[in-house]
Amino acid sequence: MKTTIAQIGQHVGETVTIGAWLANKRSSGKIAFLQLRDGTGFIQGVVVKAEVSEEVFSLAKEMTQESSLYVSGTVREDDRAPSGYELTVTSLELISEAKDYPITPKEHGTEFLMDHRHLWLRSRRQHAIMRVRNEIIRATYEFFHKEGFVKVDPPILTGSSAEGTTNLFHTKYFEENAYLSQSGQLYMEAAAMALGKVFSFGPTFRAEKSKTRRHLIEFWMIEPEMAFMDHNESLEVQENYVSYVVQSVLENCKLELKALERDVSRLEKVQAPFPRITYDEAVAFLKEEGHEIEWGEDFGAPHETAIAEKYEKPVFITHYPAEIKAFYMKPDPEREEVVLCADLIAPEGYGEIIGGSQRIDDEKLLKQRYEEHNLSDDAYKWYMDLRTYGTVPHSGFGLGLERTVGWICGTEHVRETIPFPRLLNRLYP
Ligand code: 4AD
Ligand code: MG
Repeated sequence: MKTTIAQIGQHVGETVTIGAWLANKRSSGKIAFLQLRDGTGFIQGVVVKAEVSEEVFSLAKEMTQESSLYVSGTVREDDRAPSGYELTVTSLELISEAKDYPITPKEHGTEFLMDHRHLWLRSRRQHAIMRVRNEIIRATYEFFHKEGFVKVDPPILTGSSAEGTTNLFHTKYFEENAYLSQSGQLYMEAAAMALGKVFSFGPTFRAEKSKTRRHLIEFWMIEPEMAFMDHNESLEVQENYVSYVVQSVLENCKLELKALERDVSRLEKVQAPFPRITYDEAVAFLKEEGHEIEWGEDFGAPHETAIAEKYEKPVFITHYPAEIKAFYMKPDPEREEVVLCADLIAPEGYGEIIGGSQRIDDEKLLKQRYEEHNLSDDAYKWYMDLRTYGTVPHSGFGLGLERTVGWICGTEHVRETIPFPRLLNRLYP
């Protein structure tokens, strides 16, 4: 019976066949231990010389790392195995021999691994990270579906910028100029006026010359946008969403978190509500701690980390100065110099995972912002229409998938959280 490693628990005592690759191997004169992987998981196959044909035993002993094969054997429960099962091998059929696989069980440098990203993805750690990423995406769709959101897909090729013009990727669109999307937000606002509560999930591009452990050139964002919702209501959606995602990963990725040696006690505490502090309070706190920062300046990674360290859960920093935020954010009616926005800072030094705000709904004020920011009427006319025709209070936010994966998995660098990272000096593979 053909099965997979993930399903093997349903076949205890039976003889099964799995298609697999040889991840690693140990052998002596009488026994060989094969570390097998099939994409769904990892399992140990035990080949006992006295119990198999001579052919099968010598194949087991000689087989090279990453060779592909069909393995048949009897499934046994084994409490010591990470997956809980082991396979007593009865026969082996080689599909293809892999010679000199470059990524051996010894340590390799980061650049070497990045050059071999197409193969590195097969390793246990990378496999676990990709599965957690998948679970976060699955839980995202589930959460927003349950909450009555409609998934809407904004365009990737755009004629205008959402988050400022400094880091746009420029391209030709036949005779016109076009840019790769930095954020789907402006289009999602149009979608919210048509469908109420919407969310998008797609790639976004930023030509940022940043070489940090949190920055990618191409990253994926989840962007909900909600009509008739104010800033505070949006914060509630955000904390419920992030809690849902973290608890889903804890529930459905136990083996993966174990393989990553993640301290899950930190994640178990991630339950709504999350603490909230204002930008003013954050600045005052940082000054007390001896950081050099003045009101009106944006926070850097060390600032975010210092603030996050005070809390066990992610923390919202709200009401930033309008000057350092995007043109579309709604000013606080009680204090015009700050906007109704929040960044959500993850614990353990992972930095900002969400940026969000209530949007300007007043046509006159938005016109004023166009002038202040030199936004052309041609490119942004359609966005103004959303205020002209039945404007309503509305809010939204963007969660960076890779930073969220990095935090939940506990990775050192965001490059491990996406299958094929695009970094400042890397477009290969
Ligand atoms: O704070 P940002 O720039 O917000 C927006 O783009 C809004 N238009 C979103 C919205 O309201 N719909 O980006 C949102 C999130 C950040 O909090 C961060 O998690 C992630 O996107 N992010 C990046 N992740 C990896 N590499 C980069 N270069 C990133 N830039 C932003
Ligand atoms: Mg931001």
